Amino acid sequence: MNQAQANIRINELRSIINDANRRYYVDNSPVLSDYDFDMLLKELEALEAAYPELITSDSPTQKVGSDRRKEFEQYPHKYPMLSLGNTYDIPEVEAFAERASKGIGNSFTYSCELKFDGTAICLTYRNGRLFRALTRGDGAIGDDVTANVRHISNIPETLHAPAGSASAPWPEEFEIRGEIYMPWAAFDRLNEERERDEEQPFANPRNAASGSLKLIDSSMIANRGLECTLYHMLGEGLPYQTHDEALKAAATWGLPVSDKRKICRTIEEIEEFIGYWDIERKNLPFATDGIVIKVNELPYQEELGYTAKFPRWAVAYKFKAEQALTKLLSIDYQVGRTGAVTPVANLEPVQLSGTVVKRASLHNEEQMKLHDIHVGDFVYVEKGGEIIPKITGVELSMRTPDVVLPHFPETCPDCGTTLIRDEEEAKSFCPNQSGCPTQIKGRLIHFLSRKAMNVIAGEATVDQLFNKALVWNAADFYELKKEHLLTLEGWKERSADRFLKSIEESKKTTFDHVLYALGIRYVGEATAKSLAGHFGNIDTIAASTIEDLLKVDDVGQVIAESIYDYFHDETNLEIIARLKESGLHFQMDEVQEKISSALEGMTIVISGNYSISRDEMKSLITAHGGKNSGSISKKTTYLLAGEKAGPEKLKKAEALGVKVIGEKELMEMLDITVTTEDKEETEPTLF
Ligand code: IVH
Repeated sequence: MNQAQANIRINELRSIINDANRRYYVDNSPVLSDYDFDMLLKELEALEAAYPELITSDSPTQKVGSDRRKEFEQYPHKYPMLSLGNTYDIPEVEAFAERASKGIGNSFTYSCELKFDGTAICLTYRNGRLFRALTRGDGAIGDDVTANVRHISNIPETLHAPAGSASAPWPEEFEIRGEIYMPWAAFDRLNEERERDEEQPFANPRNAASGSLKLIDSSMIANRGLECTLYHMLGEGLPYQTHDEALKAAATWGLPVSDKRKICRTIEEIEEFIGYWDIERKNLPFATDGIVIKVNELPYQEELGYTAKFPRWAVAYKFKAEQALTKLLSIDYQVGRTGAVTPVANLEPVQLSGTVVKRASLHNEEQMKLHDIHVGDFVYVEKGGEIIPKITGVELSMRTPDVVLPHFPETCPDCGTTLIRDEEEAKSFCPNQSGCPTQIKGRLIHFLSRKAMNVIAGEATVDQLFNKALVWNAADFYELKKEHLLTLEGWKERSADRFLKSIEESKKTTFDHVLYALGIRYVGEATAKSLAGHFGNIDTIAASTIEDLLKVDDVGQVIAESIYDYFHDETNLEIIARLKESGLHFQMDEVQEKISSALEGMTIVISGNYSISRDEMKSLITAHGGKNSGSISKKTTYLLAGEKAGPEKLKKAEALGVKVIGEKELMEMLDITVTTEDKEETEPTLF
């Protein structure tokens, strides 16, 4: 390869890698496996090493991928937050050890640890209190997720001195870095819910963790079951000689530090540790994708230093993804609540990561074509963590002449209506929303589900009610009578009473959950919350234009169009009118009814913390006739700057000539007296 050819390939690799980085870090929806990604990066590194004149400072070999999002305030990292060099075999680990001993001799030890598969976090503690939590961001600047991190149960807000220590044992200020991860059980639960709601399931616990950590509504974090483990302490003049000593100290202050660590002296001991966890990891309640090997002595770490991307004192050994090879017996085409038709493979049962796999997702027609899938083929199955494992390829060398090319159906497997293809999403849909039994039942099941109206009833009940033509849409549930229920097979007085009581109770469900229960395509739990908080009631949402909808956190063009279409469908409006009649909540709590017109016609952007929560502040603004907006524009009336308001927002307000006011000034405008020292006392006076 000459320089010109190398240049072409280098540009191509950079573009693929940059795109993959964006899909991984920003969209939480990876397009390449870690292994494929690393192989492309290695190829780019090798080409750049051969042609150093082609290295540019923006090459992905020179920087870590970025997960920064505009919705969060951003702060620079005190120390760059780097990644780790990856190795895939023992000789590469040996090469790392050799490089290290060339620099620091032979009298050092290694700390071997699990490589937690989550999203990196940097916590700063000041005087024993959690001061700030930043994501990695682009390594130099991170997103401030402190409010969200406070909802993760094993991250202490304040440190605890071990019994008997006279003065505070921790440094006045220090950083401790680690990983926020989602244990398998929480991940399975979340994805089950997402699949039921026809939201895209997370590809793996790592994406689920980073997606959850960046939820705009921090109160939703607590339900996601996130956990934290910490593995790297930093600070000025820390009094420790080794990494192990620092982590042991942190553990005594109540910080979550993994005990699955070992100090190794030789490469053989490292190998043994890797071998042990390569098997044992399958029994861990969370995902690990490798082992991290670090030089343990802090002065030696300092001596070895860093490259632009990695420490020279640590390396990651990555485990290979587990695969199984099995026969594809047949394909089912399943219709979901929103009419999407998904191909699901039936497989010859095979053992994979400790479970027997019988079914695997084929995603869509495009994926089937991409892998050239034929019924009767031997296919590779991988468990990236999904509820249903995925098919990652075909073993063409095992193909026999009797394999059959599958035909994606052209009509709905349930109601026979001609399917519509959504090219952008590469999905086929049954358009018969109001008549396709699977879609109708799917919507009804969703409406009653726990995060929606939380009615005690399952699929079987919906089946029975639907088959007897007692319910056709959500409004019918509220018109059911006991005598109707007693006509159902197996129903007695008690079960009918219980069901009706649960239906009655569901009328208390708050507006955001009711909105979610309606089952508007793409409106998951988080989006429903954002919409409810932004507009305050259903009539305003129904009257919104696409532009209005696009101003809501989390709402992009596709979601906005789906919401708009939903509210321009007569049938949906009729159902909502009947649900309103039945007494369901279609507006935020009564306290959020309009109190005054003091802020009429004003658009306010909030930033920072107040004496009340940010959600409460937003509701207060709408209650007084104002509008909330997430970003500053010329149309913004005020930037309401609370404690720790974002510097970017302040700068933008200044540039656009938007007036900045504080909480006190706002309260004066609203004629509210606030004693800011005492939150408990102030709240009742607000509404
Ligand atoms: S130490 C200077 N230790 O893996 C880098 N990282 O792929 C210090 N990770 O960036 C990181 N488990 O986000 C370290 N036991 C562990 C880890 C770990 C997971 C993450 C971390 C790192 C990434 C590299």
